[in-house]
Amino acid sequence: MQIGPHRLAGRVLLAPMAGVTDLPFRRLCRRMGAALAAGEMLAADERLWDTELSRRRRDHTDEPEPRVVQIAGGDPESMAESARRNVDAGAQIIDINMGCPAKKVCNRDAGSALLRDEPLVARILAAVVAASSVPVTLKIRTGWDRETRNAARVARIAEDSGVAALAIHGRTRACRFEGRAEHMTIAEVKQRVRIPVFANGDIDTPDKAREVIEATGADGVMIGRAAQGRPWIFREIEARLAGNPVPPTPRAAEVGAIMRAHLRDLYAFYGEAAGVRIARKHIGWYCRDHADAQLFRQSVMQTLSASAQLELVSEYFATLDEATAAAA
Ligand SMILES: Cc1cc2nc3c(=O)[nH]c(=O)nc-3n(C[C@H](O)[C@H](O)[C@H](O)COP(=O)(O)O)c2cc1C
Repeated sequence: MQIGPHRLAGRVLLAPMAGVTDLPFRRLCRRMGAALAAGEMLAADERLWDTELSRRRRDHTDEPEPRVVQIAGGDPESMAESARRNVDAGAQIIDINMGCPAKKVCNRDAGSALLRDEPLVARILAAVVAASSVPVTLKIRTGWDRETRNAARVARIAEDSGVAALAIHGRTRACRFEGRAEHMTIAEVKQRVRIPVFANGDIDTPDKAREVIEATGADGVMIGRAAQGRPWIFREIEARLAGNPVPPTPRAAEVGAIMRAHLRDLYAFYGEAAGVRIARKHIGWYCRDHADAQLFRQSVMQTLSASAQLELVSEYFATLDEATAAAA
């Protein structure tokens, strides 16, 4: 599949998630088969540009190409300026966030709040496409609320504005994260546009990915929460969609090795104190399906040094592996 000049190696993408899809996690998911991995949303407001957080979010060191940067905001000019600056800083695809249910970003309507105002959507898309020397993609929800599922109209506006691909989360803005995602609106969008369409929302297994692709005709899928603590889900879904055998779920030893490499990357990226703190939520996600996770998580919460955290993780996974071997 092609997005502008970029030929994607697969059709399973990592969804942008603020607080999760930092550079270490994106590099990991790309290694595990994600064809694209958007970073955490960057506010278009220039006043937020030079914070430490924002600088880290614009770091692309050793990030596999094409590098996707997501921007959010409600003002066409500042969105265009943000796109330009991010391209200068290394972005190879600009993704626009009109999917986030938070009402305000930088004190203005932004994210999915914009779906209510189609003329403004058109102005933002036109301004960003005109300002970007790289492809622009768009992430939306199915609409404003259950009565206003206007994703198909927004998709047409996007295609007419020169947007190169669309990702659609199968919920309206009003649904936030409640209920199950519905994918029928995505099928409707797919029939209305020729640009690639990615289906998103509650896809958490290779079979579910296959079902959604069959039901919607989407060109690919975008995975968010199911990749937390399970970055190998990309290779599993990719295999299923290609009609190949799904690789077996990694054994405890492999999970331990993936996790330790991830933690080392977090310490290097954030520094030890912040890295250890940020690692805790990832450790919780990696362990949620494993035995005695509760006790292990409690002790991990108390560790303050990288070496102690790594040691605990190694011990825990060695025990799990022994238990698996004994049961075999
Ligand atoms: C913690 C978290 C942070 C998120 N941050 C963003 C974001 O910055 N930009 C965005 O477009 N969507 C964001 N989302 C929405 C996801 O990209 C995705 O659309 C949603 O989680 C549904 O997909 P899933 O069911 O596969 O998780 C976020 C979701 C979560 C759970």
